[in-house]
Amino acid sequence: MEYIEQYQRYAALIEATLNTILPEGKMLCPPEGEMPGKLSEAMRYSLLAGGKRVRPVLLLAVCDMLKGNIEEALVPAAALEMIHTYSLIHDDLPGMDNDDYRRGRLTNHKVFGEGFAILAGDGLLNYAYECMLSNALRFKDHLEGHIRAAEAVAKRAGVSGMIAGQCVDLLSEHHDPDADTLFYIHTHKTADLLTAPLMAASYIAGATEQQRTALERFGACVGVAFQIDDDLLDVEGNAGEMGKATGMDAQHGKMTWPALVGIEAAKARSNLLWQQAKEALDCFGEDARFLQAFADALAKRKK
Ligand code: IPE
Ligand code: IPE
Ligand code: MG
Ligand code: MG
Ligand code: MG
Repeated sequence: MEYIEQYQRYAALIEATLNTILPEGKMLCPPEGEMPGKLSEAMRYSLLAGGKRVRPVLLLAVCDMLKGNIEEALVPAAALEMIHTYSLIHDDLPGMDNDDYRRGRLTNHKVFGEGFAILAGDGLLNYAYECMLSNALRFKDHLEGHIRAAEAVAKRAGVSGMIAGQCVDLLSEHHDPDADTLFYIHTHKTADLLTAPLMAASYIAGATEQQRTALERFGACVGVAFQIDDDLLDVEGNAGEMGKATGMDAQHGKMTWPALVGIEAAKARSNLLWQQAKEALDCFGEDARFLQAFADALAKRKK
């Protein structure tokens, strides 16, 4: 299958899973076991607003590459997208990056207010783990793999992972950039949440240790390259195309690669990391064709 067809197939599976996993709620005080209508509206507003679906696509692609059962991976893939979307809703709050646009629409707090944006994020985060654990219990033959997958996601999304990166990102505003701090921020706020689906898929599909190490290396390179490119797009990108404002990093005094080394050196660093990411997949040979093409597409992205 051609790369583009394969990407569209994954994206369609993800959209369908997200839509069914998080149904529209209608009532203010719903029956037991359902969520209030306003909460699901705020969660669905950001979750179903598009987005490249990079993290769930990675999870499904690795599962396929390792000849796992994609049926087992759909809910974990959706959960990764829920965790990512929660991180974006909270990242955009006035107390963090204070952004007005995301995924081509007003940010969650601009539409629902800060209180609901906080709850929508909390809801997506909690519901992601609820869904992953229920899914694990559906596949009892692979229970340990699913538990390990959930643990890997929790660690990388958590207090020594993405949240740690977001902490240092905030603490570093208006500080002189330095390479070590920047590497910490990028590794944790972005690379950890891009490596999480790779690790989850490796446990669900039963990878060898050597394969898992290769995927971890791939994720570390992709993640930092992806964030350097995001920093570059904030300087050079088109806000309409990206669906979010540009120029915000300089306005907030964010520590970024362009701020540390300038545009051209940041581009060179990103190119090198994309190259290293692809080399990390060598041990998979032809089976990594989709992941190689996905890395190429992400390296060229304009949004
Ligand atoms: C945005 O992530 C936040 C970063 C880590 C740079 P994406 O660029 O994957 O955003 P969506 O999901 O496509 O909206
Ligand atoms: C965000 O990085 C990473 C997250 C964990 C959400 P940015 O703050 O640079 O992402 P954008 O530019 O708002 O998408
Ligand atoms: Mg941020
Ligand atoms: Mg931001
Ligand atoms: Mg950014």
